[in-house]
Amino acid sequence: MHIDRRHLLGTAGAAVGTGAFRPAWAQAAGAGEMPTITVPGYAAPSETRKIDVLDLRALEDQARKVIPAGGFGYISSGAGDEWTMHENINAFKRRQILPHYLAAMGKIDTSTSILGTPIAVPIITTVFGGHAIAHVTAEAGTARGTHEAGTLFTCGSQANLPMEVVAAASPGPNWMQLYVQNDRGLMAEFLQRAKASGYRAIVVTVDAFFRSNRETDIATHYESPFQAANFPKRATTGYSASTSIMKRDLGWDDVAFVQKASGLPVIIKGVMTAGLAQDAIRHGCAAIQVSNHGGRQLDDQPATFTMLPRIADAVGGRIPIVFDSGVRRGQDVFKALALGASVIALGRPVLYGLALGGWMGVQAVHARIAAELVMTMSAAGTSKISQINRNCLLA
Ligand SMILES: Cc1cc2nc3c(=O)[nH]c(=O)nc-3n(C[C@H](O)[C@H](O)[C@H](O)COP(=O)(O)O)c2cc1C
Repeated sequence: MHIDRRHLLGTAGAAVGTGAFRPAWAQAAGAGEMPTITVPGYAAPSETRKIDVLDLRALEDQARKVIPAGGFGYISSGAGDEWTMHENINAFKRRQILPHYLAAMGKIDTSTSILGTPIAVPIITTVFGGHAIAHVTAEAGTARGTHEAGTLFTCGSQANLPMEVVAAASPGPNWMQLYVQNDRGLMAEFLQRAKASGYRAIVVTVDAFFRSNRETDIATHYESPFQAANFPKRATTGYSASTSIMKRDLGWDDVAFVQKASGLPVIIKGVMTAGLAQDAIRHGCAAIQVSNHGGRQLDDQPATFTMLPRIADAVGGRIPIVFDSGVRRGQDVFKALALGASVIALGRPVLYGLALGGWMGVQAVHARIAAELVMTMSAAGTSKISQINRNCLLA
């Protein structure tokens, strides 16, 4: 894929042309035509290379060796005792897949679509804040690797590269995530920029308006050395109610504002109950993302996989369900699809792939889990995504 460096610079200039704000990102040689961002004193991985991925969970130990300790702790840790973080993974093992042989199947077709966007696999890349802690190409690397895997990337409002630079580095498809801001003018400008840059939907995260007890970060006094590129500096500071401009008292009027100001489909991320799913439908949301933030916010809440059947029953097929938290195997993807997910959003392993191989690492992570999904679909006698349903699992 060819990325025109002059084009990148041009769009970035346009992106930051309003007001006094100029984001602290930099272009540098060293990763081909990909934009890169570095800060003194933080040695983020910079290699772009093919990596062998056998098991997504094993990537964590490999990534630990290349990501600076504070950054690795921030990515890998969860809230409190990390019970929910581990339970997200363990819950999948409590449901088993029924093999179905002699089904005389032809080729396995993993293609599907989400909100009208066709994708090669029902596995997208979830949102992370700044990716520069994992690799110098930051969100541009993750977006491109996801695109090369034939699927959809979610850019974070806390991204370290401006959204226009990310969009220019990858043809997408891309969604944009939003942490709702107190300043509606700022938010409206952000949403208009997202729309103008081709982001196809807005993911509104509703489960991170409070500072969680991620004790690893508290113990290491971890603060990202990178700035969030899409907002003025004051917008990026911490969680303190007095200094942060991220909104704490979120309500449905905020969602209505985002719907109106963006003119884009809105996905509510952080849905863990049937009631919230029903509310989202009532308020005209285009989709929900069943998520407990990878166990990073409230510990001792159930695994997303545990809650999925109830939520899917409440939704009753009226809107698509994006599903995340704890997905590490193609079998997990299959099980989530069987219980009602439309697509799953892959989490931490993507950042580990980015750290180990830049965009090629991200692509390899997606390719591996997609291959496992194909294997699982073959054994379960399902040649199309639409054939995967609850009957494919042991009750
Ligand atoms: C390092 C890191 C940063 C994250 N940043 C955000 C964020 O800015 N916004 C958000 O909605 N979710 C964020 N998440 C949560 C993910 O979107 C997703 O819900 C979670 O990673 C899924 O769990 P898994 O990593 O176990 O698969 C972040 C997760 C990680 C690991």
